[in-house]
Amino acid sequence: MPIVLVTGVSSGIGRACANLYAERDWAVTGTVRDPAKRPEGLDGRVTLDQLDLAVPGSSAALAERVIARGGCPDVLLSSAGTMLFGAIEDMSSDQFLQIFQVNLFGQIELIRAVVPAMRERGSGTIANVTSLGGTITFPFFGAYNSTKWAFEGISEGLWHELKPFGIRVKAIEPGFVETAIWGKALPAGGSKAGDSELSGSEAYLPYLRAMLAFETHISNRTTPEETAVEIAAAIADESDRLRYPVAAYARAITRARRLLGARAIMRFFHGRWMGTE
Ligand SMILES: NC(=O)c1ccc[n+]([C@@H]2O[C@H](COP(=O)([O-])OP(=O)(O)OC[C@H]3O[C@@H](n4cnc5c(N)ncnc54)[C@H](OP(=O)(O)O)[C@@H]3O)[C@@H](O)[C@H]2O)c1
Repeated sequence: MPIVLVTGVSSGIGRACANLYAERDWAVTGTVRDPAKRPEGLDGRVTLDQLDLAVPGSSAALAERVIARGGCPDVLLSSAGTMLFGAIEDMSSDQFLQIFQVNLFGQIELIRAVVPAMRERGSGTIANVTSLGGTITFPFFGAYNSTKWAFEGISEGLWHELKPFGIRVKAIEPGFVETAIWGKALPAGGSKAGDSELSGSEAYLPYLRAMLAFETHISNRTTPEETAVEIAAAIADESDRLRYPVAAYARAITRARRLLGARAIMRFFHGRWMGTE
């Protein structure tokens, strides 16, 4: 029975992936910040363990427990992550440090703790949930997107370094999946935000409003369950492909950029995102 460690199974993409693997009879460990609270909708066969990426040392301790309990995971699927919305100028240094700790440094710590066992065995897959926003930067998502660009960079570096040892690395790049992350990051859950709910410098308000309006009208979002099927297919892909845009929106933008070029896409979306057409 293959073993998978999935981070961030309290909701969204992580929970859907954990459920999918449990249904396929894999041995699944899923992480939450507080294991005393079993997430609603999580398959009863998923073993819970504790991880708080904001706490240095938490990832290494998790890897040690998981390996001691069941042996080296065949797949590490790092889905846990957090989002921030706002102008780069308005973000504090602490906010940058926190989001990089959760979305990058904690992730690297976990990978570093799992790699020795995978290398010793000569197999394994490390699947990092980065983002479409790890290849494109959206206005007012610069803090969040830069963590994902960095995670893409780490994934590509790992791809080179781990290939000789039979360890596959996959960068999973979702775009607009209908999950709780948007409601956690956007003012008023991303809908009908009044000016009182928009924080930041006065100068950015019209553009923040335009970006929120754009966000809330995106229609081709994908469900976490559909996304999980795509992620499982990427993980099962035995080729050495690294990058997988998943969900309809990510695939459409990635294809358009390939056809039209990165600059044309930036200029096209600048008008749409900033409301300056
Ligand atoms: N939804 C999208 O459109 C989209 C697009 C591109 C990339 N992504 C990426 O996909 C991944 C999953 O996000 P999602 O959309 O499924 O959102 P989600 O439903 O909010 O899931 C995020 C998960 O990460 C966990 N998490 C947050 N902070 C954590 C921390 N400090 N330590 C440990 N776990 C933590 C959350 O746990 P709590 O419940 O305790 O907060 C939750 O289980 C993220 O990496 C996200 O950046 C999502």
